[in-house]
Amino acid sequence: MNRAFRTAAVIGAGTIGLSWATLFAAHGLTVRVTDPRPDLAEAVDEALATYAPHLAARGLGVTGLADRVHLADGVTEAVRDADVVQENGPERLEFKQDLFATLVRAAPGHALLLSSSSAIPSSAFTRELPDEAAARVLIGHPFNPPHLVPLVEVVPGERTGEDAVLDAVDFYTSVGRTPVVERKEIPGFVGNRLQNALSREAVYLVEQGVVTPEELDTVMTNSLGLRWATVGPFLGSHLGGGPGGYRHMAEHIGASMKQMWAGLGTPSQNEEEQQRLIEAVEKAYGSSTYPELTGARDRRQLAVLAALDGADKEEN
Ligand SMILES: NC(=O)c1ccc[n+]([C@@H]2O[C@H](COP(=O)([O-])OP(=O)(O)OC[C@H]3O[C@@H](n4cnc5c(N)ncnc54)[C@H](O)[C@@H]3O)[C@@H](O)[C@H]2O)c1
Repeated sequence: MNRAFRTAAVIGAGTIGLSWATLFAAHGLTVRVTDPRPDLAEAVDEALATYAPHLAARGLGVTGLADRVHLADGVTEAVRDADVVQENGPERLEFKQDLFATLVRAAPGHALLLSSSSAIPSSAFTRELPDEAAARVLIGHPFNPPHLVPLVEVVPGERTGEDAVLDAVDFYTSVGRTPVVERKEIPGFVGNRLQNALSREAVYLVEQGVVTPEELDTVMTNSLGLRWATVGPFLGSHLGGGPGGYRHMAEHIGASMKQMWAGLGTPSQNEEEQQRLIEAVEKAYGSSTYPELTGARDRRQLAVLAALDGADKEEN
């Protein structure tokens, strides 16, 4: 690693920011959190209490975790001695534009400026910044919850410096994440484009009455979800082609695959269909509380991660 990351500023303490803050602290960083929400102190306490056992289960020391997380009164105070800033505010262009204009002024000159933005590329919100400021800004897009799901999409903007990209990769690796650098800015980046391609067909299938939302979820978690935690779509297809690999797969079923792509659905999601879908999802899952559902998800997510660790150890 070229440089040390000792202090992190977490801007915005909603779903994503609280999870990042806990992860960074569990890796020994001093964390300064800021968010105008009136219940910030309670939200941070609750996140630390909920996520610490997850991180302990992943082998991280969590004693003294709370001592490393400090509430800051505003953005300027949060970033004053930051080596790295992770922004997790609302997904609105004007918000990110204003915030990054403040960050480049208020954060130390060496601080790496990262945004969790799900879809807005950094070139869009650094347009007004001078080159040397834009060079420090890039996307570090996580998957929810970032303290458990390893991927971070590192997406440089048009004027992001090569050093900043390397530093971002070092930083995310140092906090146990799996960074992947993406070479071009594209709306939604890679992960959310894949997720949305699948969501579009999932909504279509439910709209058409082929399956209920719960049945669709059962199909996913018992097939593609399991497979894709072990091999990605391309390796999966390479293996699906048998010993002849991807070449055989493409030559053998390439034509029918193209036919299938052409026939994929576009859901209408007009007002009526949207209400029908919301009601169907609420019927499936609405009787459980949010903590019950996230608790079950996190237990299962931890079990998958532990199983993969075990399998990788056996292999080595
Ligand atoms: N939720 C997800 O699954 C997910 C996944 C990956 C990335 N993201 C991205 O992460 C970012 C945050 O998403 P989220 O789901 O945590 O949203 P959220 O609504 O849960 O949290 C946003 C927080 O920003 C705070 N905020 C508003 N103005 C602020 C300011 N001036 N300074 C500091 N904080 C401010 C809000 O009070 C709120 O707590 C978005 O850019 C989103 O696209 C979300």
